[in-house]
Amino acid sequence: MNVGKNVLITGATSGIGEALFSLFSKHCHTMYPCGRNEDKLQQLKERSATCWPLSFDINVTEQVNLAASQVDSIDILILNAGDCAYIDDVMAFNAADFARIINTNLTSLGNVLAAFLPKVNKGGQVVLVSSAATLLPFPKAEAYGASKAGINYLANSLRLDLEKHQIGVSLVHPGFVEIPLTDKNTFNMPFILSAPEAAQRIYKGVMKKKQYIHFPKRLTWLLKVLAFMPQFLRHRLM
Ligand SMILES: NC(=O)c1ccc[n+]([C@@H]2O[C@H](COP(=O)([O-])OP(=O)(O)OC[C@H]3O[C@@H](n4cnc5c(N)ncnc54)[C@H](OP(=O)(O)O)[C@@H]3O)[C@@H](O)[C@H]2O)c1
Repeated sequence: MNVGKNVLITGATSGIGEALFSLFSKHCHTMYPCGRNEDKLQQLKERSATCWPLSFDINVTEQVNLAASQVDSIDILILNAGDCAYIDDVMAFNAADFARIINTNLTSLGNVLAAFLPKVNKGGQVVLVSSAATLLPFPKAEAYGASKAGINYLANSLRLDLEKHQIGVSLVHPGFVEIPLTDKNTFNMPFILSAPEAAQRIYKGVMKKKQYIHFPKRLTWLLKVLAFMPQFLRHRLM
């Protein structure tokens, strides 16, 4: 079924974003996949007749604005691009990594919202991809967790202000999702899903205009229960 929507996805050149591109392009009208990897964007263009790839770095305001000037209107704006780095040695705190992750995952959303929000139609939806990691503090996740916790607040605040413009906001909390980067993780990743499985869950939630999309539920509910434990018990467990 073609539901005739214009869908823009940041971070569509890999992982969850690429899987979302594949799914939405089956159902929707015009696709705007975004990323910096131009070869990959060209491959995506060849997979769909109504695809207009946009190449830009979300951290570079001029590039974001130039890309936005090529877009007329958007029904679903998916802010998915992101990066991850762990703080491996807390006593030699890596300020450069911290700034890079906060900038790419959180500060850049200011660029993207400023440029693309005015293009979102009434009745449209803004989707922000955060992480189930924000449900509990995890070791070594000072940068990644802080950036994603910022997205949670941003999404929930945006929802209040965009209501009068008839634009909905979905906040997404994925658990572990298999991508080339997660292959390098040395820790356990319980209930890990494939990128197409994660995309399917996001797609269903977005089409139902859910305000909060979280999966897999067996992980997110477990984390929510643990979050209710007394601080000292949680600390020992983590
Ligand atoms: N995988 C997981 O377990 C997991 C769990 C929870 C949440 N998430 C979140 O899901 C989202 C997608 O991640 P993923 O797992 O699919 O990772 P991924 O495969 O590494 O994809 C990251 C995407 O972000 C884009 N990107 C990164 N930095 C960018 C920049 N400066 N400018 C423009 N685009 C940039 C990349 O595109 P280019 O390289 O082409 O620029 C790529 O398409 C992220 O927000 C991530 O935090 C992932």
